[in-house]
Amino acid sequence: MNFRVRPVRRLAGECEVPGDKSISHRAALLGALGEGPTEVQGYLEAEDCLRTITAIQMLGVEVTRKGPGHYRIAGVGLDGLVEPGDVVDCGNSGTTVRLLIGVLAAQPFWTLLTGDESLRRRPMKRVAEPLTRMGASIVGRAEGSRLPLAVRGAERPRAIDYATPVASAQVKSAILLAGLRADGPVTVREPAPSRDHSEVMLRAFGARLERRDACTVTLHPGPLRGVAVQVPGDISSAAFLLVAGLIVPDARVKIRRVGVNPTRTGLLDVLAAMGAPVSAVPQGGPAEPITEPMAELMAFGGSLTATTVGGALIPRLIDEVPALAVLAATARGTTEIRDAAELRVKESDRIAALARELAKMGVSVAERPDGMAIPGEQRFHAARVASGGDHRMAMALAVAGLVADGETVVEDTACVHTSFPTFVDTVNALAGGAAITEER
Ligand code: S3P
Repeated sequence: MNFRVRPVRRLAGECEVPGDKSISHRAALLGALGEGPTEVQGYLEAEDCLRTITAIQMLGVEVTRKGPGHYRIAGVGLDGLVEPGDVVDCGNSGTTVRLLIGVLAAQPFWTLLTGDESLRRRPMKRVAEPLTRMGASIVGRAEGSRLPLAVRGAERPRAIDYATPVASAQVKSAILLAGLRADGPVTVREPAPSRDHSEVMLRAFGARLERRDACTVTLHPGPLRGVAVQVPGDISSAAFLLVAGLIVPDARVKIRRVGVNPTRTGLLDVLAAMGAPVSAVPQGGPAEPITEPMAELMAFGGSLTATTVGGALIPRLIDEVPALAVLAATARGTTEIRDAAELRVKESDRIAALARELAKMGVSVAERPDGMAIPGEQRFHAARVASGGDHRMAMALAVAGLVADGETVVEDTACVHTSFPTFVDTVNALAGGAAITEER
């Protein structure tokens, strides 16, 4: 599948984005491990999160779809999972596989895990290492560092105090999930704070957690109980619409019910620093079973100035860099993105991919080992570009196509269904016509 993207003259209106991917995965996994039912509303029905649903079903958990995005998960408790009868295929989803390895590290049976071509290239040592220390056996390709992997969990995982070399919510979450059945408290120390959705949701499920400081969390083992979860809209999906709303002249885009957990709002801080403040009006009330804050976001064009993005800001916007790179190319001055070597091990090497694909549109990006420099005031030229099977690359390139000087073709766009299945419809509704058409 390809996108054919035409430049737009208008982009205006209100919309919602589908449920947050990170929160949806966690709702399914904690729902499975909880005692009693968990009711999830707003679950992201995209390929990645549906992989997590299939995985928990394979582990013996009954899941009922009660309506769009509405699931009832019949939690089996920490001791109720069963050995799956087949290989669990996590598709493109790094969060599914890494969090699942954490769960499985505390389950005394064998599970075989694999994924698609992209996921089989991604590093798994970062979770295998601490979980092996906790007593799990993890074997597989490349000395147990690449899928396919086989995991045999420990009967009673050992308590651990682990300093992770990367700020990764997936690593942190895997250790905390294994820690639920550990023989003592588990502590994770990070070099910079990563998204804390696991901590927020674990607390809502009754876990005992202590946050020592922004980078250190301790979990005390113990059972979970099922709750009601309302998943907010995904700010990482909203990012593409915000950027489109900032680069299309005179655009005005309002996005309702977007999750604005502070560990995820780095893009909003960067936009403010670039002179493009996005207004964020808090939404939702205490009556709703919300575990995370939500806001209505509004973006409208203006003149943007370049900025430097690095350090602790990076984990707070890591998935938004492809969209940010497109925006930066239109700003005044050169934007620098540093300390972001993690971009090289996402669904694709996003540093190389941005430099390569934006160059095809006549936009230069200087690649650095840990980031990039993006000179501003550049024009996007219509071209044929490739997503490389990476959903966020596909959407960032499509947004660039909205302001190009002719028709842009983005190749290999079926991947958009891993996180934002309604992307095309949403953009077209805001554009008031077929800005993006899908072709097979
Ligand atoms: C995620 C954490 C981040 C992010 C990914 C989702 C999560 O990855 O890039 O899209 O849900 O925990 P890392 O943990 O590798 O930083």
